[in-house]
Parts: sequence; C-alpha cells; structure tokens
Amino acid sequence: MSEAEIKSLEEQFDAKIARDEKIEPKDWMPEKYRKTHIRQISQHAHSEIVGMLPEGNWITRAPSLRRKVALLAKVQDEAGHGLYLYSACETLGITREQMYEDLHSGKAKYSSIFNYPTVTWADMGAIGWLVDGAAIINQVPLCNTSFGPYARAMVRVCKEESFHQRQGYEIMLSLCNGSEEQKEMAQDALNRWWWPSLMMLGPTDAESTHTAQSMKWKLKRKTNDELRQQFIDQTVPQADILGLTIPDPDLKWNEETGHYDFGEIDWDEFWQVVKGHGPMNKSRLDARRNAWENGAWVREAATAYADKQREGKEEAAKAS
Ligand SMILES: [Fe+2]
Ligand SMILES: [Fe+2]
Repeated sequence: MSEAEIKSLEEQFDAKIARDEKIEPKDWMPEKYRKTHIRQISQHAHSEIVGMLPEGNWITRAPSLRRKVALLAKVQDEAGHGLYLYSACETLGITREQMYEDLHSGKAKYSSIFNYPTVTWADMGAIGWLVDGAAIINQVPLCNTSFGPYARAMVRVCKEESFHQRQGYEIMLSLCNGSEEQKEMAQDALNRWWWPSLMMLGPTDAESTHTAQSMKWKLKRKTNDELRQQFIDQTVPQADILGLTIPDPDLKWNEETGHYDFGEIDWDEFWQVVKGHGPMNKSRLDARRNAWENGAWVREAATAYADKQREGKEEAAKAS
C-alpha cells in the first residue's frame, strides 16, 4: 500500500471515530490501535479470571447457603466476563493460547487489586462494594468505546457488575447491623481495601502514559483522576450509611468544588504491586499456571474427541 493510500485510510478511520461509529474486526485500523486494544482487552480479560481467585477462596467458607450461592454465582460471572473479553480480543488477531502464555509468563498484566489477600468474610463484602464498585466506574464508559466487540461485551458485563456491587454492599450492611465484632470486621476490611481500590482507577493523569491516545480513540472517555473523584464522591455517602469510617484523615467535603478532597495515595505501593511485589502476586500466578497445566488432559481429550467426530463425518461423506 502506498503512503497516500494509508493516509487516506487513516483519515477515514479518524472520521469514523469522530462520528461515533464502531470499528469492527474486519475494518481497516491502524496497527497501533489494534495493539493498544489487544493490550487493554487482554489485560481486562486476565483481570476477570485472576479476580476469581481471591473470592473463590471463600466459597467453601461462606457463612450460609444463601451467601454461598450468591458468591458462587458472582465468581462464575467473572469467568463469563473473562470469556467474552478473550473472545472480543481474539477478533483482533491474537490467539487465546498466546494471551494465556503472556499471562503465565508475567508479560501481560492484570489489575493489581487482585494481588491482595482475602483474610476475613468481610473482605467478600468490601470487594463487592469497593472493587466491583470501582470496576463499574471504569467500565460504564467502555460501553461506548469505539471497538464494537469490546463495547458490546461491556454492556452485559456492567449489568452483572452492578449486581456484584449490591451483593457486596449488602454483606457489609448485614455485618454493620450485627454484633460489635462483626462491625469491627467490616471496618477492618474497609481499612485494607480502601486505598487499593482508589489505585484501581489507575495512575494519576500526569503519570498515565496511555491516556491522551486512548481518549482520542474514545477507548477512554474520562481520565483516571476524573474517574477516581467520581468513585470517591459516590462511595463516601455509602460508608456513612454503614456507619463506617473511611481510613483517610484528609477526606473532607469541599463546598466550593462540590467534591470530596482526599489524602495522598501511596503510589510507591501501587508500583511495587504492579511490578510483581504485592502480597499475593506469586500465589495468583501459580494458581493460574497450575490450572493451565493440570487442565492439559481436558484440552487434549476435547481435541481428540473433535478430531474423531470430524473423521467420522468425513468417512460418512465418502461412503454416501
Ligand atoms: Fe467482572
Ligand atoms: Fe464483578
């Protein structure tokens, strides 16, 4: 293709995005757009799958049958989210195997929130309330993102996330209306999950390398700092209803801006966890790698079965 041809394709592509039309897998797209989307969508898919681990850890210990059923359903939803997203990502020309390999080798990232341990039942409440809550804030704008398969997957994902957020909040509410000890458990969970949840909205705009390009492609509709402020403004009144204290002495309503002011985030901690030094990084990756290796016989059996079926059909076609 000549340079002039590429330029014209690029112009058509930019115009399409400006008109808010979707880019579909078979449409021409700049290589950088394809690569950025593979990175973001696969990272998102990995987060859904790794995100099953901290909560899966509590399914057998849920305090009642009702809680067990709800948690089981939630963890299964996350598996479903991972599958929609891996499928959406495959349409960009990367195989599922390659994505898994990148996760297992540590080349691909997933949300660093899942590298924290879940030590009490209240963590199931705090995760649903805060982690799924922050995920919704991140993901609702993605329902309008420019890449069609990603945008469509996000519509259903967001509906399910809002259910997760409510079931988490309801766990917190029950604990906060329970005994002194249960309320303390809820407060302790909030203390541990608050700051990592704020970090989930990504580095500050000044530090975020991809924001400008992603805004231009409408992959992102709001900056990390805007999303974080929205999350805080929405969550603080919910903590008030629970009667819990947000672990930030600098948190204060600002009459002038109409937003909450908040304290300094420990970005050193964030980067440490991103680089693989969080409390659970190794355990999470080990769990994923083991699942892959121990599941090899299932994949082999499924492939062998599919081959046999195909051979059978070919024989039958020949015979007729
Ligand atoms: Fe999810
Ligand atoms: Fe969720």
